[in-house]
Amino acid sequence: MTQAAPKTQASDPGGAPGPRHVAIIMDGNGRWARARGRPRLFGHHAGAKRVREIVEACPDLGVKYLTIFAFSTENWKRTQTEVAGLMSLFRRYITKEARALRDEGVRVRFIGDRVKLDDKLVAMMDELEGMTAHNDRVHLTIALNYGSRDEVSRATQRLAQDVADGRLDPAEVDEETLPRYLDTRVLPDPDLVIRTSGEARISNFLLWQSAYAEYEFIDTLWPDFTCDIFARLVRSYGARDRRFGAVTA
Ligand code: FPP
Repeated sequence: MTQAAPKTQASDPGGAPGPRHVAIIMDGNGRWARARGRPRLFGHHAGAKRVREIVEACPDLGVKYLTIFAFSTENWKRTQTEVAGLMSLFRRYITKEARALRDEGVRVRFIGDRVKLDDKLVAMMDELEGMTAHNDRVHLTIALNYGSRDEVSRATQRLAQDVADGRLDPAEVDEETLPRYLDTRVLPDPDLVIRTSGEARISNFLLWQSAYAEYEFIDTLWPDFTCDIFARLVRSYGARDRRFGAVTA
């Protein structure tokens, strides 16, 4: 619980300027499918294929951590057909990709509340995390039944329990405390958050963690998001001056 998150490269004055941690809100699958006269799930399947390419592109771009928003706490409001189709897609993705992810040095983690997910899927998620736990080339975090407000509520509950049990002194709670209770506790904060499909919203994604992130909202729909676009966004981040509230000379 108390393991410290690594510092972000961008906050390290001696570090390279590229984003070490990129987070992506993969939006636009439904519209992509509709434009082709196909059901929404067709778009989600096309979106899943993009995930593989983007993960593979990370090492060459210097992106060590990639966090992707696959299913939000609000997505349960979609039709039963779409929710069931997405859950089945996640199971299929794990079955199909597990070996390649392991062999390519990808460490996979899941964030979000697992309680509402079906037992079979949770068992598969646990297994994938276990079989890639020794990897360190790329850290892929998949947000599944994730919402920042839910995450902060769950974290606060555990923090309050630690206070009640005498393990934590309320007078010592500061900005470093809550992150140790978040699902993302072993990850550095995102440096760059990308949202596809032209919507300029955060939609309850990594709200605490992205306090100093740069944002890129681009019109491309997720199934059309290529490695070239990803590389361009990563490189243009390098040209920015992040001051974290300070003034540079
Ligand atoms: C938002 O597009 C996308 C989602 C809610 C699902 C994201 C899931 C994937 C990309 C599938 C694969 C992921 C993994 C990890 C296998 P939308 O449906 O809201 O699109 P719209 O705004 O055009 O309707």
